[in-house]
Order: sequence, then C-alpha cells, then structure tokens
Amino acid sequence: MEGGVFSAHKPTYLLLLLHIFLLALLPFKAISSPKTQAEALVSWKNTFAPAPPSLSSWSLTNPNNLCNWTAIVCDQSSEQVSQIDLSNFDISATLTYFNFTPFLKLTQFNLSGNYFTGPIPSELGFCTNLTYLDLSSNSLEGPIPSPIGQLRKLQYLDLSYNSLNSSIPSELGFCTNLTHLALASNFLQGKIPPSIGQLRELQYLYLHMNSLDSSIPSELGLCTSLTYLDLTSNHLEGKIPPSIGQLRYIQHLDLSNNSLNSSIPSELGLCANLTYLALASNHLEGKIPSSIGQLRELKHLDLSYNSLNSSIPSELGLCTNLTYLALASNHLEGKIPPSIGQLRELQYLDLHMISLDSSIPSELGLCTSLTYLDLTSNHLEGKIPPSIGQLRYIQHLDLSNNSLNSSIPSELGFCFGLTYLDLSRNQLSGSIPLTLGNLAHIQSLDLSNNNLNGSFPTEIAFPLLGNFYLSHNNFTYNTFVGKSDLCRDARGLSRGCNSKKNNKKVIIGVLVPVCGLSVVATTIALILMFHKKTRRVLKKIHSAQNFENFESMILQEEVKFTFGEVVKAIDDFHEKYCIGRGGFGRVYKAELLSGQVVAVKRLNMSDSNDIPAINLQSFENEIRTLTNLRHRNIIQLYGFCSRRGCIFLLYEYLERGSLGKALYGVEGVTELGWATRVKVVKGLAHALSYLHHDCSPPIVHRDVTVNNVLLESDFEARLSDFGTARLISANSSNWTHIVGSFGYMAPELALTMRVTDKCDVYSFGVVALEVMMGRHPGDLLESQLSKSSQSMKEDNAELFLKDLLDQRLEAPSNELARAVVLVMSLALACICTRPGSRPTMLYVAQKLSARSLPSLPEPFGMLTINKLMGI
Ligand SMILES: *[C@@H]1O[C@H](CO)[C@@H](O)[C@H](O)[C@H]1NC(C)=O
Ligand SMILES: *[C@@H]1O[C@H](CO)[C@@H](O)[C@H](O)[C@H]1NC(C)=O
Ligand SMILES: *[C@@H]1O[C@H](CO)[C@@H](O)[C@H](O)[C@H]1NC(C)=O
Ligand SMILES: *[C@@H]1O[C@H](CO)[C@@H](O)[C@H](O)[C@H]1NC(C)=O
Ligand SMILES: *[C@@H]1O[C@H](CO)[C@@H](O)[C@H](O)[C@H]1NC(C)=O
Ligand SMILES: *[C@@H]1O[C@H](CO)[C@@H](O)[C@H](O)[C@H]1NC(C)=O
Ligand SMILES: *[C@@H]1O[C@H](CO)[C@@H](O)[C@H](O)[C@H]1NC(C)=O
Ligand SMILES: *[C@@H]1O[C@H](CO)[C@@H](O)[C@H](O)[C@H]1NC(C)=O
Ligand SMILES: *[C@@H]1O[C@H](CO)[C@@H](O)[C@H](O)[C@H]1NC(C)=O
Ligand SMILES: *[C@@H]1O[C@H](CO)[C@@H](O)[C@H](O)[C@H]1NC(C)=O
Repeated sequence: MEGGVFSAHKPTYLLLLLHIFLLALLPFKAISSPKTQAEALVSWKNTFAPAPPSLSSWSLTNPNNLCNWTAIVCDQSSEQVSQIDLSNFDISATLTYFNFTPFLKLTQFNLSGNYFTGPIPSELGFCTNLTYLDLSSNSLEGPIPSPIGQLRKLQYLDLSYNSLNSSIPSELGFCTNLTHLALASNFLQGKIPPSIGQLRELQYLYLHMNSLDSSIPSELGLCTSLTYLDLTSNHLEGKIPPSIGQLRYIQHLDLSNNSLNSSIPSELGLCANLTYLALASNHLEGKIPSSIGQLRELKHLDLSYNSLNSSIPSELGLCTNLTYLALASNHLEGKIPPSIGQLRELQYLDLHMISLDSSIPSELGLCTSLTYLDLTSNHLEGKIPPSIGQLRYIQHLDLSNNSLNSSIPSELGFCFGLTYLDLSRNQLSGSIPLTLGNLAHIQSLDLSNNNLNGSFPTEIAFPLLGNFYLSHNNFTYNTFVGKSDLCRDARGLSRGCNSKKNNKKVIIGVLVPVCGLSVVATTIALILMFHKKTRRVLKKIHSAQNFENFESMILQEEVKFTFGEVVKAIDDFHEKYCIGRGGFGRVYKAELLSGQVVAVKRLNMSDSNDIPAINLQSFENEIRTLTNLRHRNIIQLYGFCSRRGCIFLLYEYLERGSLGKALYGVEGVTELGWATRVKVVKGLAHALSYLHHDCSPPIVHRDVTVNNVLLESDFEARLSDFGTARLISANSSNWTHIVGSFGYMAPELALTMRVTDKCDVYSFGVVALEVMMGRHPGDLLESQLSKSSQSMKEDNAELFLKDLLDQRLEAPSNELARAVVLVMSLALACICTRPGSRPTMLYVAQKLSARSLPSLPEPFGMLTINKLMGI
C-alpha cells in the first residue's frame, strides 16, 4: 500500500526528500537556540494585525525568559520550545511568516479559534516531533500540504472549519499513530484516499461537510479502531462497502446526506457496539437487513429519505435500547411490525410517507416513552388503537393523511402532554370525545377533513392553542353564535368567518377555547343578545356630542362620570392608552378629568343577528347585582355600555396589575415575601366567601386565576372579572356553556358541567398553591387527577413542603412558617378531586383569619405533603 502512495505522489515526495536532505545539512544546534526561537516568535508576532495585548510577554528585552512567555511551554532539559498554544487568542495573521526551522522539537502546536488566513506552509512537515496539531476554526485556504505525511508521530490532527480546498493527501496514510483526524467543514474535493486504511489506531474520523466525491474506499474497513465516523454532507456515491462490518468498535456511524445508492450491507449487523447509525438522505435501495436486529446497543437509527423498499423487519424490535427511530420517506410498504412494542425506550418515531398499509398495531401503546410520533401520509386504515392513551409522555402526534376510519378514542385524553395533534385527512367519524379537554398543553390541533359530527364540546378550552383546524367535517353548529375578530386565530374556521353563508355557524363554544377568551365571552354574548333584541336602555346618560348614542348602558348608581368622558379620556380608544390585550379584545386605562382612573375593557362583537332570545330580566338583574357588589377584596364593576357592536366593561383601575404579573414579573421575589403572599391568599378567600355566603342568591365567580386577582398598592387582593359570574339558582346551575381557565378548572366540571361553589373552591386552591410555590402546581394537580387520592398520598409521601415552596425565597420561620403551613394545608384540601371533600370558602376564610395559628406537628423542614394533607 505504501508503494501506491509513493507512485501517486512522486513529485511531491521527491521534493520533500530534497527538503529533508537539505535540512540535514543545516547546523541544527545553532538554529534552534532559545535566542533564535525567541527572535522567530517575535518577528512572527510583529506580523499580527494587531498583536493581542495578551502576548506582551513576547519581547526581545529578555530573551532568556522565553520559557515563561505566554502560550509557550519548554522542554525541561533542553529549555527549548516544545508547545505553542495560541488557541482562541483572536489573532489575525498568516502562517507564511512563521519560521518553522528553529522549532523542530515542537510536539504540540495549537492555533485553533483564530483568524489565520492563507495557506498551510509545507515547512510544517519539518516538525517531525509533532504529536498534536490543531489549526481548526480559522480561515486557512489552499491545499493540505502533502509533507504533512512526514509527521509520523502525529496522534491528533485537526484542520476542521477552514477553507481548505485540495483533495486529502494520500500521504496522511503514513501518520500511522493518528487516533484523531478531523478535516470537517472545508472544501475538500476528490476521494477519500485508500491509504486511510493504514491508520489502524484511528478512533475518530471527521470528514463531514466537504465536497468529497467518488465512493467510500473499502480500505476504511481496515481502520479497526474506529469508534466514531462522520462522512455526512459530502457527495459520496456508489455503495456502502461491506467491509464496514469490520469496524467492531464503531459506536457512531453517520453517512447521511450523500448520494450513496447501494443497499445497506447486512454486515452492518456485525458492528455490535453501534449506538448511533444514520444513513439518511441518500439513494439507498433494497431492504433494511434483518441483521440490524443484532445492534442491541443502538439508540439512534435514521434511515429516512432513501429509496428502501420491502417491509420493516420485525427484528427491529430486538434493538431495545432505541430511543430514536426514523424510517420516513421510503417505500417500505406493509405494516408496522407489532414487535415495535418492545421498544420501551423509544422517544422519537418517524414513519411518515413510507407507504405503510394495514392498521396501527395496538402494541404501539407499549412504547410508553414516546414523545414524538409521526405516521402521516401512509395508507394506514382501521382504527386509532385506544392503547394510544398509554403514551403518557407524547407531545407530538401526527396521524394525518391516512385512511383511518374509527372514531377518536376517548383514551387520547390521557396523553396529557400533547402540544401538537394532527388527525386531519382521514375518515374519522363520531363525535369529539370530551376527554380531549384534558389536553391542557395543546398548541396546535387539526381535526379537519374527516367525517366528525356532533358539535365541538363547549367545555373544551385550550389556553395555549395557536393553530386550530376543524373545517371539512360534518359538525352541527347548534349553539351560540358570534362572529368576531377572534375567528382570525382559528384558521380552520376562517372560511366560516368570511363567508356570509356560514358565519352564523361559528359557535361561541369554539371561539372561547380558541381565543383564550375564557372568561368574558359568555357575558358578552348575553349582553349582545340583550342589547340587540331589546334596545332597552336602563339608564341612559347624555352622551358626549362627538360620539354616537349608546345602544345600552348600565352604570352603578353613584358613578359620577359619563361614558362619553371615558371615551374622550382615551381619545376614542387610541392605541397609546391600551394597557393589555387578549383574545377577547383590549383593556384601556382612562384618566378622567376629575383625576379618577378607570379600566375599560373593549370587546369586539359585531354580528349578533342570530342570537336566540334569553331571559332578559334575569340578565338585567345579574348586571345590577354585579355592579352592586361591595367588598374590599372585590374589584368594582362600574358598569357596561355598548356602542357600534362593541361592548365595554368599566372597572376600577389598579396600578399594580394582576397577581400573576407580580408573581412572575421581575420584582416578584422582592415584593412578594411570605407575609404578603399569605395576605393575598387571605384576601382572596374573603372575597370568595363573601360571594358564596353573603350574597343572596350566592354568586359563583367561575374563573378564579392569578390573572383575575388584582393587587392594590398595599398588596390587598382584589378579585376581578365578573364577566361570567352566574347566579346560582336551582335552574341555572346546569350551565352547558362552561367557561373557565385551564389549569384552574375543577375536574368534575368537564364531566358533569355542573357549576357549583365548589368549583371556585378548587380554583382558589390552585391559586393559593401557585402563590406559595411561585409556579403553577400542574404536577400536583395532574398526579391527583390521574390517580386515586390514595396513590397520590403515596406518591407525595416523600415530598417535603420546603421543597415545594417558592425556592426564590428563604424558607419562612416562626409565626410565618405556621401561616404558610396553614395556607398550604387548606389549599391542598381545596384541590380534592371529590367536590364534597373540599371545604367551604367560609371555613377557609375563617381559618385564615383566626387569631392564633395552629402549631406545627413537626419541625418545618420535616413536614411532608402527606402530613399536610392529614392536618
Ligand atoms: C519563570 O517564572 C518563574 C516564576 O513565575 C521564575 O521562578 C523563573 O525563574 C522564571 N524563569 C525564567 C527562565 O525566567
Ligand atoms: C525529536 O525528539 C527527539 C526526542 O526528544 C529528539 O531526539 C529528536 O532530535 C527530535 N527531532 C528533531 C527533528 O528535533
Ligand atoms: C487546542 O485548543 C482548543 C481550545 O483551547 C482545545 O479545545 C483543543 O483541544 C486543543 N487541541 C489540542 C490538540 O490540544
Ligand atoms: C483553492 O482556492 C484557491 C484560493 O483560495 C484557488 O486559487 C485555487 O484555485 C483553489 N483550488 C481548487 C482546486 O479549487
Ligand atoms: C506510535 O506510538 C507508539 C506508542 O504510543 C510508539 O511506541 C511509537 O514509537 C509511535 N510511532 C511513531 C512513528 O512515533
Ligand atoms: C447536505 O449536503 C449539502 C452539500 O452536500 C449541504 O449543502 C446541505 O446543507 C446538507 N444538508 C443537510 C441537511 O445537512
Ligand atoms: C450508483 O451510482 C453510480 C454512479 O453514480 C452508478 O454508476 C451505478 O450504476 C449506481 N448503482 C445503482 C445500483 O444504481
Ligand atoms: C464493544 O466495546 C467494548 C468496550 O467498549 C468492548 O469490550 C467490546 O468487545 C466491544 N464489542 C465488540 C463486539 O467488539
Ligand atoms: C442498553 O442501555 C443500557 C444503559 O444505557 C445498558 O446498560 C445496556 O447494556 C444497553 N444494552 C441493552 C442490550 O440493553
Ligand atoms: C352528516 O350528518 C348528517 C346528519 O347526521 C347525515 O345525514 C350525513 O350523511 C352526514 N354526512 C356525511 C358526509 O357523513
């Protein structure tokens, strides 16, 4: 083999021989004294543009100090330079002016991470004692000089991330001690020299991101020490040499993004230590060899974007360590082998567009680690197996563009972590299961182009939903109507919004979840119905001349301003007064001439022709009740107005904003100490206790969240957003259009649709926990929901209270610790799954206001959640 190298590069090699011969004649001793080395370094440094200050020690004022210069290491005995490490010195220069001859003893030379330009000088070949050479991450150009083959002691060579544009010199094959060879990300052309097979010690070979072409030499199989081989993103063609099976120690093999067009050699199955195998984006043909099942250590397998045909070998199920499996975009046909269920570690499975037919095996449900599953664009038929509900960690599920024809299994609702769900372009029938309401994290939902019927369950609300497609189904739109800007967010419904024919079919039950307008929508609908049908004016106030007459208005008796004044104060809803916006519309801050400040919520609703009649008297009573509420912990609703199809709610304005803002804003920690947090929770408890127990009839707020609690300057809590509060009475408690915010909504609400004061108790519990924990207690709630309360106890047995509390604050002590423990134990009681087991708000408020706090059953640091739930 060496002979081959010689003949191929005879001229260069002879030249090199000549060099060495001439060098041999030179008086070495004289050349490589410390003095000549110092002079060579300084004159090189003088060509740096500019020389970095960190190299100030490089100076001829005291050349005897050479061994103490920055970046220089000397050989102990000879006191000559043995190592130069200028890595990451921000040097802009070339190697052209570096005189190599005084440095023939150099063993390490590191210029990585600078701005060196120009060629690599052939003289480098003189430094035959080099073991480590790193010129990576510069802008070196031109060829890799073939004299580099003289560096026989080289163990580590890194020329990656430069602009070298020659072929790889076959002389590299002489550097037989190389363990690490990196030439990645250059413009290297031509072939991988067969001489590479002489590098028997080579463990790491990085040639990715070049322009290498022709085929992979079968001699590569001789590099039997290889553990890591990366040839991605070149133009390699032809076959994968079967000799690759000789790489017994290889762990990482990546040949992706080339033009390889053979079949996958079954010899690959001999590389028993492979953990990472990627052959994606080539033109590979034939079958996936069943020998792949021998790769028991395999964690990552990517064969996507090839022309593989025949079926998926069931032996894949033997690779039980797989976490990533992608076979997408091939012609595999047939079925997903049931053996896939053995891949319990699998997190990522992409089988899109590989012509699969038959049905989805229910064994897929055994792959319980899955977070990503893509089966789109196959010919899968039959049903979505209910076992899919076992995929508790799944976040991305795409079954679109198949021929699935079952109904949507209600078990899908157990996939709590789903953020992306696409079932579009199938033949799914039946109605949407209520359990989809569990998918609190969903951001994109596409059910379009199926045969789904029924109505979209109104109790499903997705707070994070950004993309939502329902079109081309057989839904009946039998509930409320509303056409609004909100539709813009629901792209799937946009057809419905834009075409006159359909725009009455948009249900508010859909708008509510889509737009995150959980709260106010129902009231708005009610208000709209009210004003359109009756045009009844309860208390008409003379309007400012610039504005149209208001279509209806209710203002609290003692309010001293007119709506016209409000509109004037905010310059007819000028942007600059807008202090917040949401799916529902905008909030403006109006500073009236009198100095009073009010908040105006503007809700855009324009087309309400189709609203069914409602009990106007009861609605009127409701608004009156809300404006007449008086409690120090409840925000004042001054009134409402409507004008030009817009609804306005006038509220008291609080400078400090919401509890959520305080909790998660920049100043959250410093402002909200333990005492303040306890105070906030206490205030909220009193507000709810007042609504539930002091109002007649009682009022359920229905949407208690950290965003609906506002804070006064002294951190007194004020409950706001009474938009949806409904009077409880025997006949109105069965309220089919449930609104509420996910993460705060009592679990029974989704099942029974029955709104009771216990729903508020639950939401209060969540808010109280959130205030104390400094984050939403989602995990706690989930563990409680999905398990019996007994197992929750077991689960949380070892969970210490101190670990649950907001870690940004120091743990409370003494009196405060007792107050915090009381709040936490009450909050935990409030989130009981069984509504009947939750305390009343009256009880909670009284407990929190009691003169003496209960003493701790154990030292604060020892208290577990379990213990707390028993208190
Ligand atoms: C290098 O510096 C050390 C102390 O930092 C000193 O002891 C030593 O003498 C110096 N060597 C030379 C050659 O100046
Ligand atoms: C390389 O190092 C060895 C041992 O340190 C030394 O004997 C030899 O002279 C060096 N080679 C050159 C070219 O300086
Ligand atoms: C060169 O320096 C870089 C940066 O400090 C380092 O990561 C690299 O390992 C060094 N190369 C060698 C061969 O030591
Ligand atoms: C390599 O790049 C240099 C300039 O950087 C250019 O002159 C030379 O022609 C290029 N060689 C090849 C083989 O492309
Ligand atoms: C290669 O390395 C081995 C052991 O590390 C050493 O004995 C041998 O001399 C080296 N070969 C060359 C050419 O330096
Ligand atoms: C594939 O390789 C080509 C060059 O051969 C490169 O331009 C492209 O970015 C690579 N694609 C990927 C996904 O790495
Ligand atoms: C693979 O590609 C090479 C060169 O592009 C071509 O000669 C050969 O016929 C191809 N082989 C197959 C099986 O397509
Ligand atoms: C796999 O690697 C381990 C050490 O990492 C080694 O002991 C074992 O022999 C290798 N397996 C094979 C088949 O060579
Ligand atoms: C799988 O991985 C685990 C841990 O990463 C390892 O202990 C085990 O040997 C691997 N191989 C098989 C066949 O499970
Ligand atoms: C849509 O639903 C109606 C009423 O349930 C039914 O008659 C019709 O066949 C359905 N259309 C399709 C395409 O399923």
